[in-house]
Amino acid sequence: MNVYDSEKILFHLVRRGYEKTLSVELADLVVLNTCTIREKAAQKAFSFLGRLNRLKQKNPDLIVAVGGCVAQQEGKKLIKRAPVVDIVFGTHAIDRLWEHISRFEHKRRRIIDVKMSESIDETRFWEEPASKAGTDSVKDSSVTAFVTIMQGCENYCTYCVVPYVRGKEISRRPDSIVREIEHLVKKGVREVTLLGQNVNSYGIRQGFCSFAQLVNRINSVEGLSRIRFTTSHPKDLSIELMETFISCDKLCNHIHLPVQSGSDRILKLMNRRYTSENYLEKVARLRKIMPDMAITTDIIVGFPGETEKDFQQTLNLIREVEFNSLFAFKYSDRPQVPSARFSEKVTEREKMHRLQQVLALQEELTSKKHHLLIGSLHKLLVEGFSKKHESAAKKNHRIQWTGRTQSNIVVNFTLNSGFDGDCDENLTGSMVDVMIEEAHSHSLRGRPVYINPERKGLKGDKYHVA
Ligand code: 5AD
Ligand code: SF4
Repeated sequence: MNVYDSEKILFHLVRRGYEKTLSVELADLVVLNTCTIREKAAQKAFSFLGRLNRLKQKNPDLIVAVGGCVAQQEGKKLIKRAPVVDIVFGTHAIDRLWEHISRFEHKRRRIIDVKMSESIDETRFWEEPASKAGTDSVKDSSVTAFVTIMQGCENYCTYCVVPYVRGKEISRRPDSIVREIEHLVKKGVREVTLLGQNVNSYGIRQGFCSFAQLVNRINSVEGLSRIRFTTSHPKDLSIELMETFISCDKLCNHIHLPVQSGSDRILKLMNRRYTSENYLEKVARLRKIMPDMAITTDIIVGFPGETEKDFQQTLNLIREVEFNSLFAFKYSDRPQVPSARFSEKVTEREKMHRLQQVLALQEELTSKKHHLLIGSLHKLLVEGFSKKHESAAKKNHRIQWTGRTQSNIVVNFTLNSGFDGDCDENLTGSMVDVMIEEAHSHSLRGRPVYINPERKGLKGDKYHVA
């Protein structure tokens, strides 16, 4: 979500004559977009502000604007803690940043804007025609893009700061979302990831349409190859949405379904409003509908009061579901959240020990799953050169490409015999079929397969397995 917001900020600034610099040392204006979901993220923001402080001593005209969730959370206090900051703009003030910068340039007086949506005209941000919106700043070569479809959350999980810093749940109008996606496609984007804290409740309050209906509409955008979304709250995952995986051919067979814990006692303390049994039932249903559905999750270890027994239940759930991958986090207290006041805090040492166990177990599961893929065929959306490309190019080796499977696994490959296309052709944005040959812990290696000799060229959807 912050990547998307940063794109919007960049676009507004570029439109007004600012240029992106190659390094922060060269800038006249630095905009820091922050995250406060976990303590570590907020600490990162503060240590970066320390660096800006040193820069400002050398260049007193430097303007520093801080936005995002830390700004929303701290407001005035942020300036006290970090006097280097000139402008504080909260999560609902992105569209006003430009006014603030111009006012600061003239008056050199600090500005704090942390007003939430009830007091602003929401439509100003959402309703700007796509041709003028932040999507213009998407890099020309990007084939994937994020699209925020809603903001805020009212689920109030007891550990989570989001409802306090992102505010009430507000959905964008379906027309505006579709227009933005059509615009992105014209700029070369082939895959969009729809973003919301809980996409399952999209449009309900405003009475627009259901999330499943929205995905159906987006599915008919011409030129778009793939749709992803994140995040779904397990309690709201509907049968209608599960069936969308069948009805929408562009919807990738991957779902991120954060479970957080395998212990019903902890889930209750977290206010997640489902049990491990409910969760497993939904997973079983999803797999019945789409047997090759990739399921990923988020896990919090060391929630206050989490005993060894609770933790073992989390490990058991991970083993039972066999997630394709997961993100695991050590619990951290966040300002305002109820769990910050819960007793029986787990020690840092124990949290680290549990985190390592979760990561080790998942590594085993992912590695097993990746090895099972050897010999299977996958359609990749090519995103560009692989990370290893530079070193391969230096050694005069072939171009290394990278793409993702529908289930979101990174696959690297080089063009080799079997192709009648030009080996130097730019494959970015193309769909290429590969046979998986090697499995690594975080990626796969494949060999492009060219089966139908009638078909020439490798561009876009023209390239198919016969
Ligand atoms: N401590 C640790 N992890 C957290 N998350 C959210 N709040 C906290 C917290 N206070 C994790 C959850 C969520 C992900 C985005 O961040 O797992 O799904
Ligand atoms: Fe936070 Fe997600 Fe819970 Fe909302 S649903 S409160 S964003 S963890």
